[in-house]
Amino acid sequence: MDFIPRPKPPITGNESIHLEDAYHGYFDLSLRRTRTVLNDIDLVVSRGEFVSLVGPSGCGKSTLLKLFTGQEIVQRAKNFEVLGLLPSFPDRTRGVVFQNYGLAPHLTVLRNILLGLEFQASLLQRFSPSWWKRAKDMASKYLDDMRLTDASDKYPPELSGGMRQRVAIAQTLITIDLFGMPDLICMDESYGALDASTREDLQIFILKLWEKYKKTIVFVTHNLEEAVFLGTRVVVLSQFWTSDQPAAQQEGSRIIMDIPLESHAMSTEVKQTAAFKELTKYILDRGFNPKQRLHVAQFNADLRHPNSFSSLTREQCATAFVDGSGATSPQSLDGKT
Ligand SMILES: Nc1ncnc2c1ncn2[C@@H]1O[C@H](COP(=O)(O)OP(=O)(O)OP(=O)(O)O)[C@@H](O)[C@H]1O
Ligand SMILES: [Mg+2]
Repeated sequence: MDFIPRPKPPITGNESIHLEDAYHGYFDLSLRRTRTVLNDIDLVVSRGEFVSLVGPSGCGKSTLLKLFTGQEIVQRAKNFEVLGLLPSFPDRTRGVVFQNYGLAPHLTVLRNILLGLEFQASLLQRFSPSWWKRAKDMASKYLDDMRLTDASDKYPPELSGGMRQRVAIAQTLITIDLFGMPDLICMDESYGALDASTREDLQIFILKLWEKYKKTIVFVTHNLEEAVFLGTRVVVLSQFWTSDQPAAQQEGSRIIMDIPLESHAMSTEVKQTAAFKELTKYILDRGFNPKQRLHVAQFNADLRHPNSFSSLTREQCATAFVDGSGATSPQSLDGKT
């Protein structure tokens, strides 16, 4: 099988994310070395895109998101810029709704919702009673919207998973209302613990926010329907293999699918259409079924988004062609040193 690299799109410097040949892993005590989680990620995201990021559990979605927000520092990359800078710490331009909700356990629901505002308020706002009144009125509105009014004085450990998730969402939304939307918002399974009806309401809600502010969103979800419904693009992260022996799988994940989605429906009814179901099934079969784990050379068929590209680094080339099927030498593949 031949690997044909997909060329990088033109880079203007105005992208939200530009990541090339990125590697990241964690030290594994049992292996006594770093275990690769992200194995050569290539990703360019234009401003204003809504990227749904999916992939099997443990493939590295949260890790990738943490690189974007600066919670983790990438271990190796040829290029890495988020909003034009190397992200080295979390800041307010890169908003985040955590997978584990990120609530302060010793503060009530109401105080947790107001917490983000305390961090971001200017000195003038902090000491202005009228600003705080507005913030508190808004907090009551969100408590009501999220059906949390009765839980306002409770503490996070007293709440169900779904309730905690709604508090975290309210915390983010109120910050957006008062300070505008961050240029990049990263959501890690933010809707995972919600009941079906709240989840659909919030899907429409986030789409409306996105339409209003035209900022970039990276949305990690385990729900493929949600990914296809929300995204302008569905990116699938998964393991892969490089020789003709599927057993010789590479450690870590790459982007194996990158599907552009044409338009946004504002009604969840679109999920019932045949085309929607077909696409969802296709992504599930190709991206998630371990029996169909892709050879690196098979990626290109599913890297369909105009911004998607793929390269192989020299060490991957060395293993990609051990079967002898490719006459191509590693050096000629991408010209990298
Ligand atoms: N801080 C850490 N230290 C060591 N290993 C870690 C750390 N964080 C993540 N990992 C490992 O990295 C791999 C990827 O984890 P990650 O949380 O990014 O996966 P994920 O795709 O978000 O999974 P899920 O869908 O279950 O949330 C897993 O094997 C995980 O055990
Ligand atoms: Mg995760």
